[in-house]
Amino acid sequence: MASSAQNRAPKLSVFSVFLCSFMFQHLFLSPNANRVFAQSSPVFACDAASNASVSSFGFCDTSLAIDLRVADLVKRLTLQEKIGFLVNSAGSVSRLGIPKYEWWSEALHGVSNVGPGTKFSNVVPGATSFPQVILTAASFNASLFEAIGRVVSTEARAMYNVGLAGLTYWSPNINIFRDPRWGRGQETPGEDPLLSSKYGSSYVRGLQQTDGGDKNKLKVAACCKHYTAYDLDNWKGVDRYHFNAVVTKQDLDDTFQPPFKSCVIDGNVASVMCSYNQVNGIPTCADPDLLAGVIRGEWKLNGYIVTDCDSLDVYYNTQHYTKTPEEAAAKALLAGLDLNCGSFLGKYTEGAVKGGLVNEAAIDKAISNNFATLMRLGFFDGDPSKLPYGKLGPKDVCTPENQELARETARQGIVLLKNSPGSLPLSPTAIKSLAVIGPNAAVTKTMIGNYEGIPCKYTTPLQGLSASVATTYVAGCANVACGTAQVDDAKKAAASADATVLVVGADQSIERESLDRIDLHLPGQQTF
Ligand SMILES: *[C@@H]1O[C@H](CO)[C@@H](O)[C@H](O)[C@H]1NC(C)=O
Ligand SMILES: *[C@@H]1O[C@H](CO)[C@@H](O)[C@H](O)[C@H]1NC(C)=O
Repeated sequence: MASSAQNRAPKLSVFSVFLCSFMFQHLFLSPNANRVFAQSSPVFACDAASNASVSSFGFCDTSLAIDLRVADLVKRLTLQEKIGFLVNSAGSVSRLGIPKYEWWSEALHGVSNVGPGTKFSNVVPGATSFPQVILTAASFNASLFEAIGRVVSTEARAMYNVGLAGLTYWSPNINIFRDPRWGRGQETPGEDPLLSSKYGSSYVRGLQQTDGGDKNKLKVAACCKHYTAYDLDNWKGVDRYHFNAVVTKQDLDDTFQPPFKSCVIDGNVASVMCSYNQVNGIPTCADPDLLAGVIRGEWKLNGYIVTDCDSLDVYYNTQHYTKTPEEAAAKALLAGLDLNCGSFLGKYTEGAVKGGLVNEAAIDKAISNNFATLMRLGFFDGDPSKLPYGKLGPKDVCTPENQELARETARQGIVLLKNSPGSLPLSPTAIKSLAVIGPNAAVTKTMIGNYEGIPCKYTTPLQGLSASVATTYVAGCANVACGTAQVDDAKKAAASADATVLVVGADQSIERESLDRIDLHLPGQQTF
């Protein structure tokens, strides 16, 4: 459309805004969509107010070192109870005052309700939505990445305090975006190992670091994923559940590992997630060299290693990597895995122990890493309202300052590919009318990409532009797939306006998790 409009009306200034899909905050909330009326208090252990006898437990004693508290807790548990702490929907032990804890929350570019650990409600209807990561990374601004992390963790703590969110977030996604057709590339900082390293370690610091800077404490726990060599979801009949990434040692060290290494060493991340794919014939979650050897041994992870959901089921049932599920469970624990997103370890670990495939010490080690993380978060310190961040609440979510940082991020990250002489900036005095054309001009949810939450508000590109100048809007296509383009309507609108803004591009129907692209062209007839 851009070229035909230009040919017919050369006096018009015509340009396209490809990346703005990710830059706008949202303005619209339907009154009862996705609302839940959940509990209003946080989950935590060692609640002396509800049972004074918890103060006699060593693991509740905040004056002791974390490893001593962890050891005290582990020795009180039966094998079955221990196994309950190997899965994301972790078991409760009421005799010890330990409630259920849901490990799976997400915060890719704002607090998200994609994981079961976080929900929005009438108490907190939305959270600040930052641009999708691929745009934020294009700012090349590490202090901005960290500032975003600080805002997200403040909003996360505020939501935790009213029972709406967890303390453990499985973000960021720092996989190298080597193939630009990967459907999840939007979640990542891009293809460059150096920028991805800076993005990961900075965002993680922003999420995790407490105001006091104490490394033994966490504001929230972040997780760098998906380890490693993962950049294929579903492409020409190959999917991530069957994919074996064949990678040389040099390519691994130069390309795929640096962001993870930096995340653990520079970012001091509390968790790494292993992926679905195999690397050189071994499922990453079953590889003792990649887990115990590299992450914990060489890089000295202080935290827990978690599976993707559910990588163990995938390597047993889909990849047929082991003969029995018990062997699959044992291999993961022996490789250095600590937590299973899913229920596989819950089902098969006891059988693996009874069958002599793994001993209880390996389970103790895994749950010790999980408990230590929760202790650093204050989960075992009693009433959170008396602890740091305990005063945060709904008033601290979607504040004008937080939303302004999201807007500032969009400004810093947006990329101008070309500026034909005289096109930009548009003069607010000379331009009296604007034609706004394209299938992404009047969209809301498209603008926040995936692993999103519910934003504080929506503003469509059309609404944003209409606020400053008279606009004529033509969608041009029924949707981004754009089977047919209404070219005549678009031309007419462009011909009678002082300038034309095309808002074109993709959305989750074109590229997403489980859907890679075949080419990088604008979809369908959008290029007409
Ligand atoms: C308090 O905790 C102790 C120790 O776990 C337990 O024996 C007792 O039943 C609990 N009391 C109540 C009222 O829950
Ligand atoms: C990075 O972002 C921060 C926060 O918006 C801003 O103050 C700073 O000027 C930016 N740095 C650069 C080099 O643009």
